[in-house]
Parts: sequence; structure tokens; C-alpha cells
Amino acid sequence: MKLRCTASVGVILACLAYGLDGLLCAAARVDGEQLAIRRKDVLRSKPAAFETSFRKDAKRNLTLPEPTSYGYLDVNPEKGSAMYYMYFEAQEASPHDKDVPIILWLQGGPGCSSFFGMLYINGPYFVNDDLTLRRNLGSWNRMYGMLFIEQPIGVGFSKRGSASIPDNELDVAWDLYRALQSFYRTDPELQSRPLIITGESYAGKYVPSISHFILQVCMKLSQHVEAPVFTLGGLAVGNGFTDAETQTAVQAEVAWGMGLIDTVQRRVAEGMQQEIIELVRSREWRAARNKSDALLRYISTAGGAATLEDVRRNTGYDSRNQVDEYLNSPPLRQLLAPSGVPPASDLAWESCSGEVDAVMGHDVMKSVKGLVSDLLQYKPVLLYQGQWDAECGVGSNDAWIHTLQWHGHGGFTAAPRKFWWVNGRIAGFWKSYNTLDLLVLRNTGHMVPHDNPLVSRTMSYSGL
Ligand SMILES: *[C@@H]1O[C@H](CO)[C@@H](O)[C@H](O)[C@H]1NC(C)=O
Ligand SMILES: *[C@@H]1O[C@H](CO)[C@@H](O)[C@H](O)[C@H]1NC(C)=O
Repeated sequence: MKLRCTASVGVILACLAYGLDGLLCAAARVDGEQLAIRRKDVLRSKPAAFETSFRKDAKRNLTLPEPTSYGYLDVNPEKGSAMYYMYFEAQEASPHDKDVPIILWLQGGPGCSSFFGMLYINGPYFVNDDLTLRRNLGSWNRMYGMLFIEQPIGVGFSKRGSASIPDNELDVAWDLYRALQSFYRTDPELQSRPLIITGESYAGKYVPSISHFILQVCMKLSQHVEAPVFTLGGLAVGNGFTDAETQTAVQAEVAWGMGLIDTVQRRVAEGMQQEIIELVRSREWRAARNKSDALLRYISTAGGAATLEDVRRNTGYDSRNQVDEYLNSPPLRQLLAPSGVPPASDLAWESCSGEVDAVMGHDVMKSVKGLVSDLLQYKPVLLYQGQWDAECGVGSNDAWIHTLQWHGHGGFTAAPRKFWWVNGRIAGFWKSYNTLDLLVLRNTGHMVPHDNPLVSRTMSYSGL
């Protein structure tokens, strides 16, 4: 049923070549492979066997998270590199039930920490103004185990040692793969549960890259990598950045449609777009990235937007940096100290690392679209977007998805786009064919689960 490395391997189909160097020796057919967890009914009526809760520290007036497990995961012990993680067992499903999926959440950036997502987007609790915690009723953690790993090396509490920050998707995937192996070795009972790899924004590159890496290892296309001790179930990306060229090509049109720029400004933006596309085609990655940043700045300034990620907002997401404050607060750091986290004076936690962003600058404009074509042959893929994101939103993703060459291209194009009803209201639009699900969510921006927790939770039950 599930893809472990024992799955029988058939014909190697192709070696793809696109922007990524080295990673991309593609797909083989796995005979008889079933889509293990597609639309699985996880809404079972078992009693809550595990309650995620937090501990009150009355003296310091702070509440502390209580993960099921947390700590460092070896990446490269010789170089001393390790990634920090927290795992929260599903709250309302029986723990160690072999069918309960485990969701890995990856934050974008490049350089932003999954712990930001944990405390701001879809984890079991959010940070209050006074730095206490409150339960997130929309957490995906209610029905699924959730694993947050701070990656790439250089992000959050992760330790670099003498290793360097990776500057390409293959090295990012390699490191994360090693961390996943370490994690699953800590608790073999988790190994057979389907792992759903998810994330948002720049994770539109991480999620396909690590998933494809795992697939290749399973198909023995990467001879020197040890087989995974875990089970890949599927993947999901929210408001992803995956294919720079097609996504850049519609940026001005999207901004114009949202009223951020007028026709005259749109021509300026389209001129910039064209330059970016030419830079991408001539593989001048850094220059393309810089121009792309300039284009976003132009649109955002012209549109008076606090953030392009949700054009309805008057301030950016987490504009008070509460998550940073919380993860640097002394009681929290005391809680984490026994697991090896240095004091904040030695390692200040930041939601996004400028250094990692700069190193990964070379990678940003490279496409991983071809990986998604391969993945769709074997695994269910959910792509969802919040409607009010002018950066990596609906138009931006629709553009590359509809140019994606895959076995279900014709069927997907012809499939009806249906209303998605939640509690008697149209919560979005759902299009589905074969292994691909595309969902647009109304009343949400870039950070869908933050903007509309309950709808996002419903999505996670129906889509993952
Ligand atoms: C402690 O937290 C509560 C609410 O969570 C707040 O009302 C109170 O002012 C805080 N007390 C201190 C001393 O910060
Ligand atoms: C891109 O921007 C960075 C940071 O401002 C700068 O250091 C670098 O030289 C620029 N690279 C190119 C090719 O424009």
C-alpha cells in the first residue's frame, strides 16, 4: 500500500533537466502503488487519547508549550550540524495509531523557521499580546501529528557547526532527509504512519524537492543514500512559489486586477517582469532575484500595501514580532536549555534568517516545476491558495499549474471547478483530478491557516 523502499520498482522513465543542478534524475514507476491516504476519513470518533496542552508558569506569567518530543536531530554529526524540532502528537486521534498521518510543516523565506508557522500559522497554539499562549482551535494538530523542523541549517535554533548553509535545493533536501531519518529513529512506532510534507510560500520549492528526493532514494536512483525509515504519504503547498518564470509573468496582471496599480503602472511593472524573465532564461539567478524583489517593492509601494501577502491588511503579518519575543523569552529558553538550546544571548531566535536568505539567493529563481510532474505520478498533491495574496496567490499559481506537463493534464484542465461549502457558505473553489487537488480559499491571504483557522482545518481533513 504505502511507498516504502520495498515497493517494487519498474521502468525508469526519464531524466529531467531544468534549473536545479544534479537533483533531477526522475521518475520510475512503482507497480501497484496505491495512493495511500487520499481523502482518507480521519474524522474518527475515538475518544481523545492525547491532549496537547501547555504548562502555566505563574511566577513568570508565561505559558510554555508541551510538545510530545523536542530536541536536536543530527544532520551531519562529523561537522556538528543539527536541526531543532518539536513534535506534537495528534490531539484527538489515538497516538501510535498506524493510520494517523504525520504532517511536516516547512516555512518559506528562504530562511524562515517552521517554528514561526508552529506559533503563528497552524500549530497547536498561538502567542498572545502578553506573550502567553492560547489554543489554536484551527490547528491541523487536532487530527494529525505535527512535526516542525527548523531548516535549512542556519535557521532558528538549528546548529551549523562547521557545515555551510546550503545554497541549493539538493543540499537543502539532503540535510532535511538526514534530520527526518534521525527523527524517525527516535520513535520507530511512528515510522509506518504516512508522512505528509507540507509548507507555504518558498516551501513551494522545499516540499517538491524533499519529496522528490525521498522518491528517488526509494527507487534506488540515489545509490549512496540509505533508504528512508519512514513512509511518504503525500504533499501539500499553500500559496507556493515554485516556478519563477510563469509566476513572475502574471505579477503585474494580478496586482492590476486587485487594484494595486493602474494601467500606466502596469506597463512599468510588465517591463520589469520581462527583464526578470530574460535573466531567468539566461540563468543569471542572483540578478533575477534582485529584480524580482524590486518588482515586488514597486507594486507594493504603488499600491500602498502593508504587505502584498494579504492586500486587505493594514500591517504586515506578525508585525510586532511576538513569535520572536516569545521564543527569546527567558522562561521558554530555560525550558529548552536541557535539550541543548543555548541561551538567547548566544543564539537569538529570529523568525527569518537574513543570512540564509542571502545564501539561498542563488536558488530563488530556479524552478522545481518538473519535480511536481514526477511526484504526481505517485503521490497525491494538494495545492491551495488564499485569495487575497498578491505575491504567490491564485493567479500566480494557476499560471504554472496550467502549464504543468503531467499524465493528468488533459483531465485536470477539463475537470469542473466546484464550489467548496463549509457551514453553508462558499469557503472556496475546489478542482480535482487524479492525484492533483487545487483549492482556492476565500477570505484568506498568504497565510491561509492563520487567516481562517477553522476553514483551513476543514481543508486539512478533506484534502490531505
Ligand atoms: C499576566 O497575564 C495576564 C493575562 O494573561 C495579564 O492580564 C496580566 O497583566 C499579566 N501580569 C503581568 C504581571 O504581566
Ligand atoms: C543582488 O543584491 C545583493 C544585495 O543587495 C547584492 O549584494 C548583489 O551584488 C546583487 N547581485 C546582483 C547580481 O545584482
